[in-house]
Amino acid sequence: MSAPDANFPWLLVLTASQDYIEPAFQELSGAAPNAKKLGALAPGIWLVELPTTFAELAAVWRGAPPIFARHICPVQYIRPISDENSIAELLRSSGFQQVASALVPTEPFSVQTRILTECVLHPYDINTALSAALAEYSGAALDVRYPVQVVSVVATRYKGQLVVLVGLSRAADNLSAWAGGVHRFTHGQGQISRAEFKLLEALDVFHISLAANGQALDLGAAPGGWTHVLRQCGMWVVAVDPAKLHPALAADRGVQYVCATAEAYLGRSCERFDLIVNDMRMDARDSAHLMTAYAAWLKPEGLALMTCKLPERYQPAILNRALAILQDKYSIQGARQLYHNRNEVTVWMRLKGKALAT
Ligand SMILES: C[S@@+](CC[C@H](N)C(=O)[O-])C[C@H]1O[C@@H](n2cnc3c(N)ncnc32)[C@H](O)[C@@H]1O
Repeated sequence: MSAPDANFPWLLVLTASQDYIEPAFQELSGAAPNAKKLGALAPGIWLVELPTTFAELAAVWRGAPPIFARHICPVQYIRPISDENSIAELLRSSGFQQVASALVPTEPFSVQTRILTECVLHPYDINTALSAALAEYSGAALDVRYPVQVVSVVATRYKGQLVVLVGLSRAADNLSAWAGGVHRFTHGQGQISRAEFKLLEALDVFHISLAANGQALDLGAAPGGWTHVLRQCGMWVVAVDPAKLHPALAADRGVQYVCATAEAYLGRSCERFDLIVNDMRMDARDSAHLMTAYAAWLKPEGLALMTCKLPERYQPAILNRALAILQDKYSIQGARQLYHNRNEVTVWMRLKGKALAT
């Protein structure tokens, strides 16, 4: 999909956590040297001019995915908006018709709208009106859960004017299937902690499927959110933490609680696990050292997943060092600063020499 208007500059909206927008820019500069920041649209959300096409950038990031850049979407059309009539005017505009005509009729699409400023329009109204018009115009089917193509709409104030930025891209090229990378979950029954979303997001983003009836080791388990998620996935869990687990887990015979530090538990027994997860509140480098010590506890085809806790002011050297320590024993399959991560990056790994596709 190229820009509908050949004279239009290659623009994109880059989104990252506002605390990590600088490292996200560095990743962008590495992938697309001379990319130019045009302006902040909201904290962590920037309009950028690219020296290459959006698809070229996406291809580079497919080969070497960024850690901090959470979402990108192209901008192929910009239109001022003012009132409720703006949607109808947008639909009639030639710029929008060009975006519509670039939709592939045989591939499902969705419209993802983000409103970054006070605006008379509601995302639901924009999504509904645009989806209906695009489906009718192109013949493509609407599929909001599993779209192949995404029309991204960002309503924002830019250079003092209320505008919508519109762009069409392959869903797989946007770094996240969710608008702006905002991965939403509803509170499940029996949820123990918000940390559960962190693990659920990681399983989804990294396409990890867990072995039902497998054995999992949860280091830094308390109060038990991750243990709860792993139990929901059918795993048996050894939960290690000097702090107490939530009482709801005490009665669960599928959970063996070990009241100890991960350091102390290391010397105790040597079971083999299908999965080791680690969400310990600990310097990323110390935590990585412990993970390498626990590598001997992982079955040859097993998976490991951890959060690397970062200091409040991001220091690349700490994350790089932690990743280097892990690489002594593991092959890193993915590392992302996820939407539900705070000052941390989630990393998933296999034992070295066992880098299989899941
Ligand atoms: C962010 S919480 C974990 C939340 C958990 N994943 C959940 O879903 O509920 C961090 C935990 O790491 C534990 N922790 C810190 N140092 C530890 C150590 N050396 N060994 C084991 N657990 C540790 C803390 O007691 C704390 O419960």
